[in-house]
Parts: sequence; structure tokens; C-alpha cells
Amino acid sequence: MPAPGGFAALYMLSRKARRAGIHATARLGSRFRGNDDWGFAFSALSDGCMFAIPIRPAIDSDAKVIAALIQRTLRVSNAADYSVAEISRLFASFSAGGMLERIQRQDVFVAEIDGEIVATVGYAGGELWALFVVPERQRLGLGSMLVAHIEAHARQRGDAQLALSASLTGVEFYERLGYHRIRALTHRSGATYAMVKALD
Ligand SMILES: CC(C)(COP(=O)(O)OP(=O)(O)OC[C@H]1O[C@@H](n2cnc3c(N)ncnc32)[C@H](O)[C@@H]1OP(=O)(O)O)[C@@H](O)C(=O)NCCC(=O)NCCS
Repeated sequence: MPAPGGFAALYMLSRKARRAGIHATARLGSRFRGNDDWGFAFSALSDGCMFAIPIRPAIDSDAKVIAALIQRTLRVSNAADYSVAEISRLFASFSAGGMLERIQRQDVFVAEIDGEIVATVGYAGGELWALFVVPERQRLGLGSMLVAHIEAHARQRGDAQLALSASLTGVEFYERLGYHRIRALTHRSGATYAMVKALD
């Protein structure tokens, strides 16, 4: 059920289309008054089965779970591209307290399977940030769906483009979704690429 005052959306992603290399994620939705974004992603997690995956705004009580999800994903999925020191600096910026602050001040979304948060993404001031999919649910289309969700969210706000700072781990993923590298960035927590995509 869409939240009153929310934005109802339906994502369709066919496994056949993905096998054929088509990564378009169609978002069908109807707009309600208000600013909250709610959505449903339908993903084929096993052959022939479609799963509805709710995407909803994060609430304060999600902060701990989101921080744990990000920290585990950093440790498992980003470790090949970043040093132990860089990963530990990233851990600090994704603490439960830091996430709570972001939830309260920015737009943070989560995707759930069976009531469990399996992916998260944020948006602030024309930028997508902190897209993380738990390691065991990667390469199923969840990351693409959350990017599509943020693109729709940004369009709703009148943004002409969406910017992001891509991890070395995520840069090819974003290129696949139409983002272009603008420049390489160096931070204490490691290298990233500034990327951008024009929104239609
Ligand atoms: C990057 C990330 C968000 C992608 O999420 P995902 O749900 O696995 O992505 P999708 O299933 O939607 O992938 C769509 C396509 O992008 C490409 N892709 C995804 N991950 C990729 C990777 N690690 N390397 C190269 N290409 C990748 C593939 O072409 C993929 O299609 P395929 O599975 O049919 O080959 C996820 O791997 C992740 O959380 N990584 C660790 C955290 C991180 O670095 N996040 C980015 C921070 S800015």
C-alpha cells in the first residue's frame, strides 16, 4: 500500500530481458500528494518467480540495521578495491549515529525482502549516495532498481541531472546505467569517481 502522501511506483524487471542484456527497469507509478517515496520492485530472484520488493523511506529505527548492512558490504564487497585503513575510515562515516542523522536530514531509502532490509540508497541535493546491496543479494537487479528509484525521486524534484561519487567497486555498474565519469577523486577513505547522468 502506498503511504498516504507518498509516491506509488511499480518496477518491472524480467529475468529474460536481463539475460538478453536489457537493463531497463520500467517504473510505473501514480503520484500522490506529499514528498515520501514508496515503491515496489518486482524482481525474478529465481527462474519463473517474480518477487515484490518494497522500497520505502528509512525511519529512525532502521539506522542500526542500515549501518550494519553497509559495514558488512564494505568488508565483503569493497575490500578488494580499498585498503584496510580506507575501509575502517568508511566504517566511521557509516556508523549507526551517522546513519540516524542522515535519515533525519536527507532522503534515505531501503529495499526489503521478507521484511529484511537488503539494500539501501540515499539522495541529497542532486546527488545519489551510499548505494549498498548486501553481498548475497547482489547481481539480482536490486542496485539498478534503487538507482531508478532515486532517478525518479530526483526528477520529481526537478533535477536535470543526477550526480554521484562512485566507488571503484561500483564504477562499471554505474557506467552500465548510463553514468559518465567526470573526474577521479581522492579522499582519506580512498579513490572514487565523480559521475553524472542527465535525466530525461
Ligand atoms: C555496486 C552495487 C550497488 C551493484 O548492485 P547490484 O544489485 O549487484 O547490481 P545489479 O544486479 O543491478 O547489476 C546490474 C548490472 O551492473 C553490472 N554490475 C553490477 N555489479 C558489478 C560489478 N561489481 N562489476 C562490474 N559490473 C557490475 C552488471 O552488468 C550487472 O548486470 P549482470 O548482473 O546481468 O551482469 C553492489 O555490487 C554493491 O553494493 N557493491 C558494494 C558497495 C558499493 O561499492 N556501492 C557503490 C557505492 S557508490
